[in-house]
Amino acid sequence: MEYSIEITKLAEHSVPDTKNIPFGKVPTAHMFIAEYNNGGWHNARIVPFADLVLSPLALCLHYGQTVFEGMKAFVMHDGRINIFRMDKHYDRFCKSLDRMCMPNVPKGLFTEAMHQLVSVDADWVPDEDEASLYIRPFMIASEGRIGVKIADEYLFMIVCSPAYQYYTAPLKVKVETEYSRAADGGTGAAKCGGNYGGAFFPTQLARNHGYDQVLWTDARNHDHIEESGTMNAMFYIDDTLLTPSLSGTILDGVTRSSLLAIARNAGMKVEERTITLDELKAAFTAGKRVEAFGAGTAAVVAPIESIAIGTDTYKCYTESDAVMYKLKHMLTDVRRGNVADSFNWNYIL
Ligand code: COI
Repeated sequence: MEYSIEITKLAEHSVPDTKNIPFGKVPTAHMFIAEYNNGGWHNARIVPFADLVLSPLALCLHYGQTVFEGMKAFVMHDGRINIFRMDKHYDRFCKSLDRMCMPNVPKGLFTEAMHQLVSVDADWVPDEDEASLYIRPFMIASEGRIGVKIADEYLFMIVCSPAYQYYTAPLKVKVETEYSRAADGGTGAAKCGGNYGGAFFPTQLARNHGYDQVLWTDARNHDHIEESGTMNAMFYIDDTLLTPSLSGTILDGVTRSSLLAIARNAGMKVEERTITLDELKAAFTAGKRVEAFGAGTAAVVAPIESIAIGTDTYKCYTESDAVMYKLKHMLTDVRRGNVADSFNWNYIL
């Protein structure tokens, strides 16, 4: 073991039934924590889950220096545990940290911490197709100082929570053309807390009008699709899997990337490009079969049943033979080890 991680386990505990508990409400029994100060990482440890002691002056509380990842572990058909796409999540974590002027975590420490924590809480990983252990690595600026500055002290932590379906029914979404999630040159591609907090208000307005989520458009002209709240946006139209290209304002989603690779590998036509509202409206108006879905670690594949663009609402195809469900099954098969991992995505404990 390259990194020394002290492990203090709970004397004993039983794993509660978390199936009907909302996403992210129940943490597993343990958590990982390490401290950054004087230019290095120290005191890496796994301890029983507990509240933090943090100065009210901590910079993360005032200026939003926070970055997180969302990952998942699965029980494979042979009983072993698989942490999915550790490398890609680590790379994205580092990019987000760079954007927020926060120190990187060495890859060995990230990997070892995750390996050890998921091993300690292995009993918490649900063994079902629609279930997994959600893993939340995150970093916060912990230095107590109210002046606006890049912090010199941070906490890197990992917490976990058993996860079932994030969305239990197909979504009604509204194309957002007034508010913006991210503008060119902003932090849209970083997984930083502020991107999510800033989305609450427009999402709440949409919810008040009966929608489940918004579909963000570009901040400049509001004429093409960017991503959906908490997920990347994907479409299947004219035998083609379509998704907005990584323009710098949307998140480089790991589920997005996995579905694109799986589709390409299966010989499907795949396009990453600008998707305009006009083009979507034209497809609906022409009576084409339009599949639309969100792709994300928490949401996996979240079918969209209707899209409101301006004053018109268009119905999407969500029948059981839709291609999005096939893609989801193919992804589940790789993660659960039902098929060979030809992509080299699985980190098996
Ligand atoms: C994820 O899908 O992992 C996310 O981070 C989205 C959301 C739960 C915040």
